[in-house]
Amino acid sequence: MEVLDQDIPGLSVNDTASLVNPIMHFFTSALLLGSVAVQTVLGRAGFGRQPLLLKRSVDSFISTETPIALEQLLCNIGSDGCNAKRAASGVVIASPSTQDPDYFYTWTRDSALVFKAIVDRFTAQYDAGLQGQIQQYIASQAKLQGISDPSGSLSDGKGLGEPKYNVDLTAFTGAWGRPQRDGPALRAIAMVTYANWLVQNGYSSTASTIIWPVVQNDLNYVAQNQTGFDLWEEVNGSSFFTIASQYRALIDGSNLANTLGKSGGSYAAIAPQILCFLQTFWVSSGGYINANINVNNGRAGKDANTILASIHSFDPKLGCDAATFQPCSDKALSNHKVTVDSFRTYKINSGLGKGKAAAVGRYIEDVYYNGNPWYLATLAAAEQLYDALYVWKGAGSVAVTATSLAFFRDLVPGVAAGTYASGSATFASIVDATSAYADGFVDIVAKYAAANGSLAEQFSKDDGHPLSARDLTWSYASFLTAAARRAGVVPPSWSNDKATSVPGTCSATSIVGSYSSATATSFPPSQTPSTGVPPTTTTTTTTTGSPPSTSKTTTTSSCQAATSVAVTFKELVTTKYGQTIKIVGNTGALGNWDTSKAVPLDASEYTAGNPLWKGTVTLPAGQVVEYKYINVNPDDSLTWEKDPNHTYTVPKSCATSATQSDKWQG
Ligand SMILES: *[C@@H]1O[C@H](CO)[C@@H](O)[C@H](O)[C@H]1NC(C)=O
Ligand SMILES: *[C@@H]1O[C@H](CO)[C@@H](O)[C@H](O)[C@H]1NC(C)=O
Ligand SMILES: *[C@@H]1O[C@H](CO)[C@@H](O)[C@H](O)[C@H]1NC(C)=O
Ligand SMILES: *[C@@H]1O[C@H](CO)[C@@H](O)[C@H](O)[C@H]1NC(C)=O
Repeated sequence: MEVLDQDIPGLSVNDTASLVNPIMHFFTSALLLGSVAVQTVLGRAGFGRQPLLLKRSVDSFISTETPIALEQLLCNIGSDGCNAKRAASGVVIASPSTQDPDYFYTWTRDSALVFKAIVDRFTAQYDAGLQGQIQQYIASQAKLQGISDPSGSLSDGKGLGEPKYNVDLTAFTGAWGRPQRDGPALRAIAMVTYANWLVQNGYSSTASTIIWPVVQNDLNYVAQNQTGFDLWEEVNGSSFFTIASQYRALIDGSNLANTLGKSGGSYAAIAPQILCFLQTFWVSSGGYINANINVNNGRAGKDANTILASIHSFDPKLGCDAATFQPCSDKALSNHKVTVDSFRTYKINSGLGKGKAAAVGRYIEDVYYNGNPWYLATLAAAEQLYDALYVWKGAGSVAVTATSLAFFRDLVPGVAAGTYASGSATFASIVDATSAYADGFVDIVAKYAAANGSLAEQFSKDDGHPLSARDLTWSYASFLTAAARRAGVVPPSWSNDKATSVPGTCSATSIVGSYSSATATSFPPSQTPSTGVPPTTTTTTTTTGSPPSTSKTTTTSSCQAATSVAVTFKELVTTKYGQTIKIVGNTGALGNWDTSKAVPLDASEYTAGNPLWKGTVTLPAGQVVEYKYINVNPDDSLTWEKDPNHTYTVPKSCATSATQSDKWQG
């Protein structure tokens, strides 16, 4: 594998005029429209020469890498992605690598984190292409939940703890570190975030009928609070990352349950106890979070697990709350310092002083591939700091406490504990130094990424060359989220006003969940933002051409959004002479489930080869309807179609007519 290329734009301290790679140049000139990467964080007066040069090289790397990362990420999603043609629709492969190591599988955790990044991006800017991916992902996960695997099945929920599956959605039956409990929590978080967007845009029914049944299975599993293997699939115990993800999932889930009028009381009841448990990972004598407890593995517990937990719990509304380990909390900043410092013994980090960005691995005792820095861990260290900067700037102040003093002193020597308001010299120094520190981590990734922008899983602790699985999907997702935070684009809030309150004493609780397979997974079309038909932005993947390209098309629509739509329902069903097919459903126009008010369809196009019954009903744009067809005999006796009910969302677009095609469910 190729090592460093001195022509990488991110390596250069000159500006983008030094671009020499024509592919990079193409991406820069053609594809950055609308990308977060073009937003830059302004330098400040008094900012030293080094940080300014660094900022410029990081700006340059981010602008070239962003389209590559998005493209490569989409390439790893089935079944359209250029590297994932063999994967089922909506399935994320961990990496295209099929040997040394073989990562051509789908992990529930990795997929959820990738889709969490996609959904966050989607909520910040509507994108029909990404929406299609999100829908396929949710449908694929509904299927996956129902598979019997070596961890168990859905009947008692145990099967949900299975960490990894074949890409065709069959069980992986080899030996593995199972169960892993973070997957269902992270998957619930990704899906709830999308469900919240649907609710906010007037599609509560889709959230209720399609997403909630899938989320509910995952949440019932999460509420059982059981131990299992950590995110690195090695330690069987209680993992900080897992528990933090479970906490957020329970709050997310109870909030969505409230919104949809579903029962989520058990999630709200157990959540404070999980938060209480989360506090016990803090090692106050060492100023860090122990990544794994309830296990005796001979490790110190300093682990990028904890930094990842902090960024994935980020909610700007929570400020610098320490109970939820918000990125700018004193505990999380102290943990950032202690964890990053634990990797300073890597050869590629030698000679860097404290407070200088370093390559970050999983944990220093790591022996996988001899233990190396990971791109996603190094980017997470940057992301935590970008999150912190966002909150400090928004709050107009930064607090330095006894707990976070050591972190801040590495960056601003001599700083004292206290609260510094924006406008003060100390606030400016802290913000400048933290920005430069954060950029430093991105610069390390720029330096050790492959020349063509590919991000593998790891890079050598000795000379920085890429190692292990190539094009790791999670590496690309971590780049995109770090770049978005740097540009001030943050995820939607997940907390509520009780989210930070820790009970005085912790008690163990577990709720035994019930499970049922989620079967309604066909998403209605055209669920566009409620603000009307927007200028559409679509991310599409073109898999011909080398390299494959991602394009964003922006077209402005000038038509009027339709308020009602003439929907033609077409049903294929073989009938006997004298029988009539009718449609009945949950709205007035469909008879409110009263079969005497059902709408008869006509058989004018019926043939033996194409037994078509059809009829047109006018429905409000955006309305979600549930319905079934009935077969009525001449004597008015009738046969219902079998379950489930059909669900259809009337498109909200310029179109005034639409067609829905069904087949008799016998
Ligand atoms: C993991 O730990 C749990 C709880 O201590 C135990 O029941 C289970 O057998 C362990 N799994 C493995 C594979 O060691
Ligand atoms: C980028 O280069 C790596 C080797 O460094 C290679 O494995 C990968 O396929 C290349 N990616 C693209 C999109 O060409
Ligand atoms: C969750 O499980 C862990 C490990 O068994 C236990 O120590 C903790 O008290 C439990 N927490 C709750 C809220 O049940
Ligand atoms: C179909 O809708 C009817 C009326 O709302 C409801 O009673 C029934 O339970 C639904 N069927 C299924 C399978 O959800």
